[in-house]
Amino acid sequence: MSPMTIDSPVAGTAPATGPAPAVRLRGLTKSFGANRVVDPLDLDIAQNEFFSILGPSGCGKTTLMRMITGFETPTAGSIELDGRNVDGVATRQRDLNMLFQSYALFPHLSVYENVAFELRVRRTPKREIDDRVRAALELVRLSAFADRKPAALSGGQRQRVALARAVVGRPAVVLLDEPLGALDQKLRKEMQFELKRMQREVGITFIYVTHDQEEALTMSDRIAVMSEGRIQQIGTPTEIYDTPASRFVAGFIGSCNLIDGVADAATGRFTIPGVGEVPVDEIPDAAPGTPLTLAVRPERVRVLPDGARTEGGVHLPATLTQRVFLGDEWISHLALDSGIVLSASVPSGDAARALAATADGARVTVSWHPSDSRVIPTGELA
Ligand SMILES: Nc1ncnc2c1ncn2[C@@H]1O[C@H](COP(=O)(O)OP(=O)(O)OP(=O)(O)O)[C@@H](O)[C@H]1O
Ligand SMILES: [Mg+2]
Repeated sequence: MSPMTIDSPVAGTAPATGPAPAVRLRGLTKSFGANRVVDPLDLDIAQNEFFSILGPSGCGKTTLMRMITGFETPTAGSIELDGRNVDGVATRQRDLNMLFQSYALFPHLSVYENVAFELRVRRTPKREIDDRVRAALELVRLSAFADRKPAALSGGQRQRVALARAVVGRPAVVLLDEPLGALDQKLRKEMQFELKRMQREVGITFIYVTHDQEEALTMSDRIAVMSEGRIQQIGTPTEIYDTPASRFVAGFIGSCNLIDGVADAATGRFTIPGVGEVPVDEIPDAAPGTPLTLAVRPERVRVLPDGARTEGGVHLPATLTQRVFLGDEWISHLALDSGIVLSASVPSGDAARALAATADGARVTVSWHPSDSRVIPTGELA
């Protein structure tokens, strides 16, 4: 699939004054027949931002991207690119480029010609083509491979050719739909750093779709977490990770202990059925008795000797049921007497050695500090 790149902005519109966002969505909605797959959505993406859309399969990520590119017509709402409304404006007239979920290179063309293709179609002067293609290949560190055919490249190298092709026309916005999906874990990690470096170097707004939370956390300036056509939360990677707005977000980003219960705003305590009350720092506004979730990251949970106490901490008796060694950390499973199983992550080191010496089935105390836990709504945000 060849990317679409057009440099010229929409003809006949006044240039934006002041810093307009690269992308502005207002009430953007998409239904297929009776099936609404993107709920009315408002979103501003800043110039040069690395913005990720993260969500499970089928939540509407590609549909949202296709509306921004113009491949899909919104059911309602508006899209502005760099301050210009692009309602009814064809894809090729939008100053953007999309790298699709499944891309393909031309097998009979060299790396150089694959990257040059769109520029040739647009009859860009030869000198300029050469300058731009060489710069793009340098950016993806493939200068030495210009004469190779795609068949003689590794998967990661082919991916880089596709990236070079997506940025060679210097569009204002590049949309990337799960571009690393086909690569193995090691290559994915390498490419994540490369992509971030590249985006910084070229100063293009990136809108990046993924269902891999680690990928989103690694690369993004901001992340929108999406579920069933709705944005659940928008924030920086640390905001999303440390202060998830809902149970869905907490469970989707990183691993998290999610404990059902009810909270009493008057006493500032959270009651876990069958376990008892634990202190928490903050309780969201909710009618008394509303189901809430206490979220604690495994790396915040400490495993102490039976009966041990720490200043101001939560302490719950538990049985160590399982330990899993992951190289840089140990994950242990801890069964509270009510049957709730929590996990704790202990980085390799002294604490892990002590844990390793503890037998399965041993009685321990599970502990965390109230400030390391968060009470969040159990239901999804409306
Ligand atoms: N042309 C279409 N006609 C009808 N339904 C569609 C169409 N395109 C997408 N859908 C539906 O819209 C929903 C969202 O699809 P979309 O491709 O946007 O999901 P996604 O988040 O990109 O998922 P994935 O991570 O699997 O790529 C799905 O339920 C899908 O079946
Ligand atoms: Mg998709």
